[in-house]
Amino acid sequence: MNALSGLKSAVVGPPLWLLAEVTYRCPLHCVFCYNPTDYARHEDELSTDEWLRVLREARALGAVQCGFSGGEPLLRDDLELMVAEAHRLGFYTNLLTSGVGLTEERCAALKAAGLDHIQLSFQDSSREVNDFLSSTKTFALKQRVGEMLKAQGWPMVMNVVIHRLNIDHIDRIIAMAHELGAEYLELANSQYYSWALENRGHLMPSRAQLQRAEAITDEWRRKLDGQMKLFFVSPDYHEARPKKCMNGWGNVFLTITPDGAALPCHTARMLPGLSFPTVRERDLKSIWYDSEGFNAYRGTGWMKEPCASCDKKEEDLGGCRCQAYMLAKDAAAADPVCAKSPQHGVVQAAVAAADAGRLPEQPLIFRGRAESLRLSTS
Ligand code: FES
Repeated sequence: MNALSGLKSAVVGPPLWLLAEVTYRCPLHCVFCYNPTDYARHEDELSTDEWLRVLREARALGAVQCGFSGGEPLLRDDLELMVAEAHRLGFYTNLLTSGVGLTEERCAALKAAGLDHIQLSFQDSSREVNDFLSSTKTFALKQRVGEMLKAQGWPMVMNVVIHRLNIDHIDRIIAMAHELGAEYLELANSQYYSWALENRGHLMPSRAQLQRAEAITDEWRRKLDGQMKLFFVSPDYHEARPKKCMNGWGNVFLTITPDGAALPCHTARMLPGLSFPTVRERDLKSIWYDSEGFNAYRGTGWMKEPCASCDKKEEDLGGCRCQAYMLAKDAAAADPVCAKSPQHGVVQAAVAAADAGRLPEQPLIFRGRAESLRLSTS
């Protein structure tokens, strides 16, 4: 396939959503972290000036939302400068944080810089599980951060990654979010990429757990009657159809990694045979419109069977390219979550093991530098 064949049925619009992963450094060690498992090989972070240039180029391209993420973005002491520049350029700005490193002073500085929105992550409703899953003592701190956010007048947006080890606490998790005054709560089931894929056997909930959790969430929706918006995101392994990943490859999302690689999604760099230039090598406009990596899976022209003749191909675009590579060893294959995929059995086997409560012998792997280096050479 040449790079342009993927463009046949696609009209390329601008990136609307910029995700600035400003650092992979993180004080937490979450077992479901979505950073690439080989992150320790990409530690050469862009400078402040380079990030400011990225923001300007993305805005000039047409991006309107800018998320600052990591790792833990608060570990960059120039975060306020970046937020201020994004705000000045007219972005709607969002910070995705564990809360570690957020003091009253930094809260005030981020507010003054024009930050529009903060999403605070928790691991669980109990100190024991929160601190175990992140391998840190951060539960009490997160609660204090929740209060600081409210004091600054930001809407409280809370995010909890849901999986086998905390899904049965969902009632208490929702109650905690309500007590902290959250306006939005995202209960996002772990998707099996990166560290979560390494730990999939421990993290995958059974169908019964999932149904119970959804029913409890529905009950709370009725009880709260609009006081708090609850989003429940199912794991795609349990869905009948694949997700339209990133709303389409190179369609609206643009991720910049800490070392400046421009990607259609945060894990695309693992796909073999594709090159993704960094913002040090090329400007964002030429990367977005003309690079091989961004054009490889745009539209539907790249598809082979069973996707090519599927009547749902425009709806799901064949699912997720990274998942196709991880589970079928072919990034151009149908996402194995799809029942039509010849590799769908891999997904069914993982769900069946979860239903039967068969846990792997391998212990949980906590995200960390030494593990990252080990995984990138194994
Ligand atoms: Fe890379 Fe889905 S996460 S395409």
